[in-house]
Amino acid sequence: MGSPKKVRVQTLLEKKQAGEKIVAITAYDYPTALLVDEAGVDMVLVGDSVGNVVLGYESTLPVTVEEMRHHVRAVRRGIKKALLVADMPFLSYQASIAHAIENAGLFLKDGAEAVKLEGGTLTIVQIVRALVDVGIPVVGHLGFTPQWVHQFGGVRVRGRRSDEAKRLIDMALALQEAGCFAIVLELVPEEVAALITERLTIPTIGIGAGRHCDGQILVLFDLIGMLPGWSPRHAKRYAEVGDLIHHAVATYAEEVREGKFPAPEHTTHMSPEELERLKQLLQGEK
Ligand code: KIV
Repeated sequence: MGSPKKVRVQTLLEKKQAGEKIVAITAYDYPTALLVDEAGVDMVLVGDSVGNVVLGYESTLPVTVEEMRHHVRAVRRGIKKALLVADMPFLSYQASIAHAIENAGLFLKDGAEAVKLEGGTLTIVQIVRALVDVGIPVVGHLGFTPQWVHQFGGVRVRGRRSDEAKRLIDMALALQEAGCFAIVLELVPEEVAALITERLTIPTIGIGAGRHCDGQILVLFDLIGMLPGWSPRHAKRYAEVGDLIHHAVATYAEEVREGKFPAPEHTTHMSPEELERLKQLLQGEK
């Protein structure tokens, strides 16, 4: 069951302590925000995956702060209960602490309650510390972090090797120490995600990180089957919404072409008196 009350940063920590799973999902617009909030998720992330699944980019790298803000504001209007987190896009936080604070602050002004940023290197840990220090709650993101795709040499599971896994554990501890209130673990072996989850006091939220994280997050369009064909191995398609949309639009097209739509019940009429007056007006113009 979803949380009966407004979810806050502290609610997620309480859920970890109580052993209750955290349910998170992405959303990008007002109608889907309304739907996911009513369905009772705990956390909604306006992910920079908007670049891939909504804007048609090949990666998340081109996504801008302005594009993200447009979507964050739309999602804000649809959410009453869930905790709203805005993803900080590539180059909106890496260049300097001041730049990161200014951009993260804009997302909070737009109604986000926290921001998420990718990575756990020294630079990122310092940025997290500075954001938390000025009152901006931060979700960390480790494992396969899409903004690092070129550095990693493609989309790959991170932490298969013991030295890489150890580095992930160290980065998770450093992010927690810097003040993150939760960490997303993406494409990480289940064993590594379990070890991180066990060692942290803050919750882990997994995507392709197995069963033992404190919560799970999926990209909404993967879960509802919005886009045709391929979906990632870690995602379960709970519906085929893309097929439903295709069928609805194809039927509409067929009915328009056959003159079946609009039918009388979709049509408005003038009163016979007004129609008669109009005819007389037109007649008078001749
Ligand atoms: O951008 C996004 O949707 C994300 C999730 C995959 C966690 O970062």
